[in-house]
Amino acid sequence: MKHIIAPSILSADFANLQRDIEMINNSDADWFHVDVMDGVFVPNISFGFPVLKAVKKYAKKPLDVHLMIVNPEKYIQEFANEGADIITVHYEACLHLHRTIQMIKAAGCKASVALNPHTAVGLLKDILADLDMVLIMSVNPGFGGQQFIPQSLNKIAELRKMANEINPNLIIEVDGGVSISNTASLIKAGANAFVAGNAIFSASNQTQMIADMKNIDVS
Ligand code: DX5
Ligand code: ZN
Repeated sequence: MKHIIAPSILSADFANLQRDIEMINNSDADWFHVDVMDGVFVPNISFGFPVLKAVKKYAKKPLDVHLMIVNPEKYIQEFANEGADIITVHYEACLHLHRTIQMIKAAGCKASVALNPHTAVGLLKDILADLDMVLIMSVNPGFGGQQFIPQSLNKIAELRKMANEINPNLIIEVDGGVSISNTASLIKAGANAFVAGNAIFSASNQTQMIADMKNIDVS
């Protein structure tokens, strides 16, 4: 399977959101990555349902919704109703992760779990078979434009090894500090979905940057 590119709208121009959505619609990107932050789980507040609704109105590709919020189980149904296709909750935010994953699936969405940089991938062993995707945070969540944490590469490789035995179709998404210069090494480590905010939106030709990231071939 060719890898997935998911531009993060956190780095979009919110005063020209429709324009940026159309840019993604007309590019080689696969998904829209939508970062929801509550100011409690992470030290930043981004946006919630009204913005998700606005994105859904124009987006012609799946919405990959990354919930950086406490008690995500309270809002799963509403995120599904507002158009989320994939819902990622944080391991660190879920006391009853298995139940929350079942809720996401019952709401008709693909289910995914995110791990903060300090959270070991081995903790997912007993739930890996139930997941469509794992999101490896390669920065501390909360802000776009941060520097990639190199240890993430080892985590991806370890997770891919575990997935090969338990859930070979697992998508491994990397989020934070991803750019054209580290995508190849991340693919080699075993990742196959890439979130990029700053790398895409700060490029002089955003559509071309998406194409360049999509066309990286390590075979
Ligand atoms: C960070 C968010 C990311 C962010 C990535 O907490 O989860 O999705 O938008 O931004 P870049 O690609 O700029 O590191
Ligand atoms: Zn994200």
